[in-house]
Amino acid sequence: MWSVRSSGLCCLLPGSFSLTLHSLVLVLLFITPRCQAVQAENVTVLEGGTAQISCRLQNYDGSIVVIQNPRRQTLFFNGTRALKDDRFQMVLFTPQLVRITLTNVSVSDEGGYFCQLYTDSTHHQVATLSVSVPPETPIVEVKQQAVEGGEAELTCVSPRSKPAATLRWMRNGREISGVLSQQDNGKTFSVSSTIRIPVERKDNGAALNCEALHPALSGQKRVRHYRLDVYFAPTVRIVPPTGILREGDSLSLTCSVTGNPLPREILWSKINDTLPERAEKSGPTLQFSRLSQSHNGTYLCQAQNNFGRAADHYTLLVYENVSITTTVPTTPPSPTTQPTTHPTTTLILPKRIAQDPKDPGAVVETHSAVPYAVIGGVLALLVFTVICVLIVTIWCSVRQKGSYLTHEASGLDEHGEVQEAFLNGNDASQGKKEYLL
Ligand SMILES: *[C@@H]1O[C@H](CO)[C@@H](O)[C@H](O)[C@H]1NC(C)=O
Ligand SMILES: *[C@@H]1O[C@H](CO)[C@@H](O)[C@H](O)[C@H]1NC(C)=O
Ligand SMILES: *[C@@H]1O[C@H](CO)[C@@H](O)[C@H](O)[C@H]1NC(C)=O
Ligand SMILES: *[C@@H]1O[C@H](CO)[C@@H](O)[C@H](O)[C@H]1NC(C)=O
Ligand SMILES: *[C@@H]1O[C@H](CO)[C@@H](O)[C@H](O)[C@H]1NC(C)=O
Ligand SMILES: *[C@@H]1O[C@H](CO)[C@@H](O)[C@H](O)[C@H]1NC(C)=O
Repeated sequence: MWSVRSSGLCCLLPGSFSLTLHSLVLVLLFITPRCQAVQAENVTVLEGGTAQISCRLQNYDGSIVVIQNPRRQTLFFNGTRALKDDRFQMVLFTPQLVRITLTNVSVSDEGGYFCQLYTDSTHHQVATLSVSVPPETPIVEVKQQAVEGGEAELTCVSPRSKPAATLRWMRNGREISGVLSQQDNGKTFSVSSTIRIPVERKDNGAALNCEALHPALSGQKRVRHYRLDVYFAPTVRIVPPTGILREGDSLSLTCSVTGNPLPREILWSKINDTLPERAEKSGPTLQFSRLSQSHNGTYLCQAQNNFGRAADHYTLLVYENVSITTTVPTTPPSPTTQPTTHPTTTLILPKRIAQDPKDPGAVVETHSAVPYAVIGGVLALLVFTVICVLIVTIWCSVRQKGSYLTHEASGLDEHGEVQEAFLNGNDASQGKKEYLL
C-alpha cells in the first residue's frame, strides 16, 4: 500500500489587482493561511482488503464535506451516510481529517474518490484507489502428452492478476524459456507461458516448477510443482530362479514389468501348451507348489499398455528327484558348476557325464548305486596284475642277462630301473600301477 499526498488548492482571491508578479506572490503568501483547502491521498490496496480514503482539511470552517465514489454517487454528506453500502464506514471526522474505510475491496471499486468541500467556490480533490490482485498459484495444463522420444508441451496459466503476473518455468534451478501470452480480461489479466521440451524415459518424474512473480507478493513467488509424466512402452523380464529345479520343488516365477502407464494386466502362458492347472497366478508371479517333469516347457510373460507391448520367456526344466541313500550330506548344486560328488565315484563319473551331461540327477544316483565290493574287486585285480607283470619282466631280464652279457648299456640301465623299482617294494609298485593304467 502506498499513499501520496496531493497538494490542496487555495481560494481564489476576490477582486482584481494590478500589481507586479512580485507583489502578487507576497499577497498570496499572506492570504493563504486563511484559505480552506482539502487534500486527498492515492491508495493502493489488495483485493479483498480494506482501503482507507482520507481527506485532509486545512482551515476548516464548518463547511459541508462531501465524499463521492468514482461514479460520483455521494457516499457521505458531511458525515451522514448517503449511499447504502455497508462496506463504507466513516471512521473519522475532525476539522483536520475526514477518513472513510472500504472493506472487502474489489477491482470494481477502483477509481477516483472525490473529497469535496462546499465553500463559496467548490473545491475537490481526487483520491485514486487502485486494487492489486496477486496471482494464485498457477495451473499447469498438459497440451501434448509426453511420449518417450517425443516432446512435452506444457502451459502454465495464471488466470487472474493485476497488474499482470510474470511467469517462468524452472527445472533444476534453471529457467526454461517459454512462449508468453497475456490476455486482458477487463480489469485483470490472464497470463500463460508454454514450453516444449523433448522427453526421454529418464525424464519420467522429473520435477518442473512454474513460478508466478508479482509486485504485490513482495519478492515471494507462487510456485506450482509439476512432475513430468513421460509415457513409454513396457519392458518385461522374468527373474530366473537360481539353482537346479527338481520334482517336488516349489517355484515362483516373477515377471518384473515397467512401463508408463504400468501395464494393468500381466499375461502368463506356456508356449504350444496350456498353463499347468496347478500353476497359480498372483499378480506378476506364477507359482508352482510342486514341480513335476510335465511342467517342462517355455513360459511366456506378456504385458502391454497404449504405447506398446513386451514379452519375456523362460524355459523350465525339471530334473528327476534325488533319492539320497548315503549318509553324506549333499550340497545343493548350483547351475554353473558341475555337481560335487563323492570321491569314491571318480572312476565311474566321467563315463556317466559323457552319456548324460544334462542330467546331474542321474549322475548322483549312479554314485549311490555302485556297490563297494565291485570297487574293491577292481582294485585287487589291478594290484594282482601289476605284481604278475613285474614278476614276468624280472624273469625275462634275468634270462637276458644270462644269454646276452655283451648287450648295450642302455638296455641294461632300463632293466636295472625296473629291478630297482621291484626291490623298493610297495610304494614303487603303486606308482607303476598308475603308469600301466
Ligand atoms: C494519484 O493517482 C492519479 C491516477 O493514477 C494520478 O493522476 C495522480 O497524479 C496521483 N496523485 C499523486 C499525488 O500522485
Ligand atoms: C458538518 O459536519 C461538521 C462535523 O460534524 C460540523 O462541525 C459542521 O457544522 C457541519 N456543517 C454543516 C453545514 O452542517
Ligand atoms: C467480498 O466480495 C466478494 C465479491 O466482490 C464476495 O463474493 C465476498 O463474499 C465478499 N466477502 C466478504 C467477507 O464479504
Ligand atoms: C523327492 O525326494 C524327497 C526325499 O527323498 C521326498 O521327500 C519327496 O517326496 C520326493 N518328491 C517326489 C516328487 O518324488
Ligand atoms: C511350438 O510348435 C511349433 C510347431 O509345432 C514349433 O515349430 C515350435 O518350435 C514350438 N515351440 C516351442 C517353444 O516348443
Ligand atoms: C524335463 O527336462 C529334464 C531336463 O532336461 C529331462 O531330463 C526330462 O526328461 C524332461 N521331462 C519331460 C517329461 O520332458
